[in-house]
Amino acid sequence: MKLFKYRFFAFLNLVVLQFVSLYGFAQEQHIGIIPKPVSVEKRTGTFNFSSETEVLAKTKQEMAFAVFIKSYLKEFGRIDLKSAGSSVSAKNNLYLEIDSTKITNPEGYILEVSASQIKITGADGSGIFYGLQSLMQIIHKSEKGALSVPACKIIDYPVFSYRGMHLDVSRNMFSTGTIKKWLDILSFYKINTFHWHLTDDQGWRIEIKKYPQLQQTAAWRSETLIGHKRTEPHLFDGLEYGGYYSQKDIREVVAYAAERKITVIPEIEMPGHALAALSAYPGLGCVGGPYQPARYWGVFDDVFCAGNDKTFEFIEGVLDEVIDLFPSKYIHIGGDECPKTRWKVCPKCQKRIKDENLKDEHELQSYFIRRVEKYVESKGRKIIGWDEILEGGISPGATIMSWRGEEGGIAAAKLKHNVIMTPEKFVYLDYYQSRQKSEQIAAGGFTPLSKIYEYNPLPPALNEDEKKYILGVQANVWSEYLPDAQKAEYMIFPRIIALAEVAWSKNQQKDYPDFLNRLDGQSRFLKQVNYAKSDYDVYGSMRDGTRYELKSDRPNTEIRYTLDGTYPNSKSAVYDKPLAIPNSGNLKATSFFKGKQQGNVFEQHFEISLATGKTVLLKDLPSANYGVGKQTLVNGVEGTYLYNTGEWMGFSGKDLEAVVDLGSSKLITEVGIGILKYHWQKMWEPERLTFELSVDGKNYQQVYQLLDFPVEGINRVRQKINPMAARYIRIKAINKGIIPKGEYGAGGNAWLMADEIIVN
Ligand code: ACM
Ligand code: ZN
Repeated sequence: MKLFKYRFFAFLNLVVLQFVSLYGFAQEQHIGIIPKPVSVEKRTGTFNFSSETEVLAKTKQEMAFAVFIKSYLKEFGRIDLKSAGSSVSAKNNLYLEIDSTKITNPEGYILEVSASQIKITGADGSGIFYGLQSLMQIIHKSEKGALSVPACKIIDYPVFSYRGMHLDVSRNMFSTGTIKKWLDILSFYKINTFHWHLTDDQGWRIEIKKYPQLQQTAAWRSETLIGHKRTEPHLFDGLEYGGYYSQKDIREVVAYAAERKITVIPEIEMPGHALAALSAYPGLGCVGGPYQPARYWGVFDDVFCAGNDKTFEFIEGVLDEVIDLFPSKYIHIGGDECPKTRWKVCPKCQKRIKDENLKDEHELQSYFIRRVEKYVESKGRKIIGWDEILEGGISPGATIMSWRGEEGGIAAAKLKHNVIMTPEKFVYLDYYQSRQKSEQIAAGGFTPLSKIYEYNPLPPALNEDEKKYILGVQANVWSEYLPDAQKAEYMIFPRIIALAEVAWSKNQQKDYPDFLNRLDGQSRFLKQVNYAKSDYDVYGSMRDGTRYELKSDRPNTEIRYTLDGTYPNSKSAVYDKPLAIPNSGNLKATSFFKGKQQGNVFEQHFEISLATGKTVLLKDLPSANYGVGKQTLVNGVEGTYLYNTGEWMGFSGKDLEAVVDLGSSKLITEVGIGILKYHWQKMWEPERLTFELSVDGKNYQQVYQLLDFPVEGINRVRQKINPMAARYIRIKAINKGIIPKGEYGAGGNAWLMADEIIVN
């Protein structure tokens, strides 16, 4: 008997509470729909539901939606709507009609409300469904329980046909009941694609009847990493973890999603992220094993052997069953993060390269994906792959999911390939959403609600024709740090709702404060999930090198702060403009609304030295993603483990050479800088770091050299030196160059990450 960490299958028979049954109460008569419709025209009058209200739906398809809204209103308002025959007799009615002459977008709808009628017209069933979702958001319930809808005319259709959420269930899995609950909410916000990441190094989660070892071996890992993977040494929980979705579970989820107009796209990872599969079928790896499912998070060298025909036989066998289970047009075949280490020395892989006239291992990956694409297309389906499948040549019919940034998506669109934008910096929901110190562990990076909301999936680098290849946008939910549904919900909601508006509404129509107003109206729908309120938290950044700016994702809240180490309260100083920070010390701040504290307390340490706010000359500019201003290095704020908040200056494959000009000669006794060593993010310590001093800016004398950076994380270099007068301090850090073999990102450029030069 295997030990279960989670008694997963016990959940499967739970009665799933319908999302609709939990709707709460509305107070005001406003029309606050998310995602924002194309047009909302308010009209005079109100439609009042009563026991006499009839639902009119003529065709079988329309009737199905009538059943849906009837059961909703029965739960929500204790109202039993009558079914009309072919015509209405009641004074007021709800009329559902499919008519593609009135609205052409297959997901579009027109919702018209007058005192006597609510009419929803859709080009197709999806339009009716989305019209009903909008209707549900604007039905108001009085204290006595009466239901009404303000008169209006709404015309609505989406900008993007692909509006997705991805969910990784390999690292941690969630019950089908939980997934269904989330699907309810996703569909409520008109998200139409659920990308189900079913296989990875840490566990294979889909039942494949042809390969029983996937269930017996690949679905189970011996134990799991505790804490963040960047914390060394790694500690493990000693508990076996595993499980998988049976084919019955999968069919159930796919059908449930389809009823809610959500397409489920399965992802079967290849050729990398395959350790779990290899543990079950070791003959499919280049060295033959033994392998075991990974116990921690990362990128692993053992991948499917591309030289072995048995690999393709296995993948085809798996895909046969996958294609049978999932009716989606697209099958996601992964393709990301596949190290070429094993392939380089595997005789079978090398023979394949020779036989197929391939240039290198990148072309071998391309061969792999093309071969699988051919098979998938022979079954009438299309492939999606992560943007790495561009390397070595893109498969002819592939759709690219651009995750490392937008570059892959831009390149693919220019090649006339379809693209789904999922750049991690903007739409990864495993990133932090708050900078409060007590925040639970997340993967890394900082993506608050406003940042997701402001994302525009159509890059200016594309012309109008090329933009047509951007099918849409998706938020990705990697589950390494999501041990349970509570934590997952905290990370997903409400950021996925911002994504829903990014995906549906026109970029020019987006308005963040207006979105927040509408979001506040949604709390009655969101009560059933553990949604984050981090948008009330305060965060800050140094603006012009000397003034610190505080912000909250809630522009209308009042921020109060202290600089004396005490906790801010309703009497603390009100923040009204960026703060001058003359001395080292700690800032604490939080937000208030109507006198009540809303957010958590934000804390920022300042390290002020002779270098702070002085002029810095850089020999080479930093790379765009980690550039910000050149004052970053001397702004009094040290970079933290959140590597993308703008505090770290990053150089991809290049050295740092900075000269700080103190303005006049000073006696110097200490120098320092911060270096971020995150190999898991391709961020490497320099080969050599030197500090040199000069009086005239021409003749420099080296005062310190460092070759060792022992900390996996932030290395805060500080060195006392023999006192010496100088005006100029030159810091050189030599980039590691190419990432060594066996490391994450091997063969690519290393990032050199630096922040905060200290001179005392
Ligand atoms: C990915 O985030 N590795 C696609
Ligand atoms: Zn091989």
